[in-house]
Amino acid sequence: MFCPTSKRRQDAGSGNVVQKGDAVIDATCGNGYDTLAMLKMVADRSQKGRVYALDLQDVALQNTRSLLDESLDDNEKELAELFATCHSKMEEVLPRNITVRLVAFNLGYLPGGDKTMITKSETTLLGLEAAERVVAPGGLISLLVYVGHPGGREEFETVQAFASRLPECLFVLVCDDFEEVSEAAQVFLGDQFLSRGKHDIKHDVAQIFSRLMKKLPNVVLGSEEALAISHAQKLLALIYFSGPRLVKDHLLQSPVCAPSFFFFLLGIVPYL
Ligand SMILES: C[S@@+](CC[C@H](N)C(=O)[O-])C[C@H]1O[C@@H](n2cnc3c(N)ncnc32)[C@H](O)[C@@H]1O
Repeated sequence: MFCPTSKRRQDAGSGNVVQKGDAVIDATCGNGYDTLAMLKMVADRSQKGRVYALDLQDVALQNTRSLLDESLDDNEKELAELFATCHSKMEEVLPRNITVRLVAFNLGYLPGGDKTMITKSETTLLGLEAAERVVAPGGLISLLVYVGHPGGREEFETVQAFASRLPECLFVLVCDDFEEVSEAAQVFLGDQFLSRGKHDIKHDVAQIFSRLMKKLPNVVLGSEEALAISHAQKLLALIYFSGPRLVKDHLLQSPVCAPSFFFFLLGIVPYL
């Protein structure tokens, strides 16, 4: 969850989350290194992949443009669209009805630039909420937060509070192939179970379980393998953290749930 961007990018591009032809957003393009790496993840001959890169500062957009110009061929260059706008407005620059597989935030100030022009908690939160709306199911919001500069700690706490509202995502991240991501998510989720009111987390988990069970038959029978695996991972992680009691209570509550769950077990056996 909170891990170095280069590693997060590698992981996102390792075949599970971002694929050739996908649309992605760089919410803070700065000097363009993340934009370039993301473009390499989505570019192929189909010319369908897109990177929407945003930054508030003109100098950042110029730096990104220069880096892309010197690093990419003409076809690849066409896949990047740069916008001088705040990431809280990302929906305004996206074409209609588009969802993206990855929104990357690399927060703080522009390296080598004006250190007072930093990301701010309020707009970062709005940006994260917008990202939540545009990211496709099974997609990823990646965050790199620095705490060393003034306002950094406050921004980290804002991000943390936002992430705690997304326990469903945490159940995916605990199964991440990248150890640091998995460990961070496990600690975070463990804290949630310990620190929040017992009723709160139980209630949330029951709701997530219900939602996942409802979608289960379609996901398992659908053609999107990555989505089915991520769904299975969420369910298994949720069962691990909540314990068998919740599953038992839930399965006995509804005649629809038990067959769905059996279906789910049959579906995941080939991957075990
Ligand atoms: C740490 S830098 C990004 C580094 C960049 N991803 C790279 O690969 O070089 C953070 C950037 O966020 C930008 N920024 C600050 N507030 C912003 C906002 N509300 N919306 C979009 N970009 C913002 C800054 O101008 C700065 O360029």
